[in-house]
Amino acid sequence: MSTAVVIVKSTEHQQDLIIDRPAFGVSLQGRIRVPGDKSISHRALMLGAIAQGETYIQGLLLGEDPRSTASCFRALGAEISELNTESVRVRGIGLGNLQEPSDVLNAGNSGTTLRLMLGILASHKGRFFTVTGDSSLRSRPMSRVVKPLQQMGAQIWGRQSGSLAPLAIQGQQLQAIHYKSPIASAQVKSCILLAGLIAEGETTVTEPALSRDHSERMLQAFGAKISVDPETNSVTVSGSAQLHGQNVIVPGDISSAAFWLVAGAVVPGSELCIENVGVNPTRTGILEALAMMGADITLENQRVVAGEPVADLRVKYSQLNSCEIGGDIIPRLIDEIPILAVAAVFAKGTTVIKDAAELRVKESDRIAVMANQLNRLGAKVTELPDGLEITGGTSLIGTEVHSCTDHRIAMSLAIAALNSSGTTTIHGAEAAAISYPDFTTTLQQVCGETN
Ligand code: S3P
Repeated sequence: MSTAVVIVKSTEHQQDLIIDRPAFGVSLQGRIRVPGDKSISHRALMLGAIAQGETYIQGLLLGEDPRSTASCFRALGAEISELNTESVRVRGIGLGNLQEPSDVLNAGNSGTTLRLMLGILASHKGRFFTVTGDSSLRSRPMSRVVKPLQQMGAQIWGRQSGSLAPLAIQGQQLQAIHYKSPIASAQVKSCILLAGLIAEGETTVTEPALSRDHSERMLQAFGAKISVDPETNSVTVSGSAQLHGQNVIVPGDISSAAFWLVAGAVVPGSELCIENVGVNPTRTGILEALAMMGADITLENQRVVAGEPVADLRVKYSQLNSCEIGGDIIPRLIDEIPILAVAAVFAKGTTVIKDAAELRVKESDRIAVMANQLNRLGAKVTELPDGLEITGGTSLIGTEVHSCTDHRIAMSLAIAALNSSGTTTIHGAEAAAISYPDFTTTLQQVCGETN
């Protein structure tokens, strides 16, 4: 097997990932596992913290984002054991019982931590909280959750009428609402449902298209009174329930598996099996998009683990064709669009991705950053206001690119580098640790450099 050379150069806070593709190419082989699902990890820590009794979490993602959630909820009074993948114990303190911390709560880079936590804090009557995040998070829109919370009676202050962190929250007794969200966002939906847990009455969220439903599934498992109306994409939670600690088993993250699905599909001669991946239908848009492009992906050993569907995913190289995606599939693959753009670069024809303006307010402006960075490698990518147009089939030539401190950009560029001639240096590769701390090790493994 021919191998790419993957070199990591680290200083205290920064990492360069240097990928040197041999002139005769590279093929990827192996059976691998990806870390735990980020969305499910956050929710297990949060629900564990506000439930009564103990929650045990197996397979937690040890990335920086769930670490931010754990440190915030420890500061709010929940007892959370040292984080590990075997079994994390969360001793919850019951709904409405979080303590007022003596310092600012810092969500780091994590939008999920900040937005979901806001819903929980806003309903803690009589307590005062301040929340912030890193420079990326402090520039991301919070009005999408602050406005509906204010409609429920929350008191929240921040820059630009409460739309940017740092935010200050004076907890209140909230009232239930029916919120018709203008965007399909699981963070918005989850924030309001969490606030609704101790609001007076029944809180309903309706979204324009279905976003990931991990909150609904887990709230139900913890004992909340939840009902779902699939016809209208609505979820209702009752304000009277109590939550009880559970055993949660976190499946592998399909958003992390997506890097290997695309790598296996585009690097000639490759075959990879990614074990134990969550295939919740609200997350499998990437499988559908790659199937539309002609990728050879099969689901093996399909099963349900702790309420979430799981499978092993086998991918083999095949020549991909372009596709057009937009509409309801977008929320089901929103985090995979950067790596889907890499797939499109190696596909025949012009791929158009639209209705994805949300990408502009993720950890970076992923539309602008992916277009700029892929074009540096020689790709033909045009920015659209709400997506990307990518003409595939150009040969990529290794050069210096930058993650722009965005984890999914760092990893997407590393996969693009495997099919770029010569040497590619990805600056800011340390960002991958937000959701995938072992990404480089697995990259070296599939390139045949380690066992
Ligand atoms: C997430 C929801 C998504 C996603 C994010 C995680 C979640 O955001 O991009 O990485 O865990 O709820 P939106 O639902 O706001 O698009």
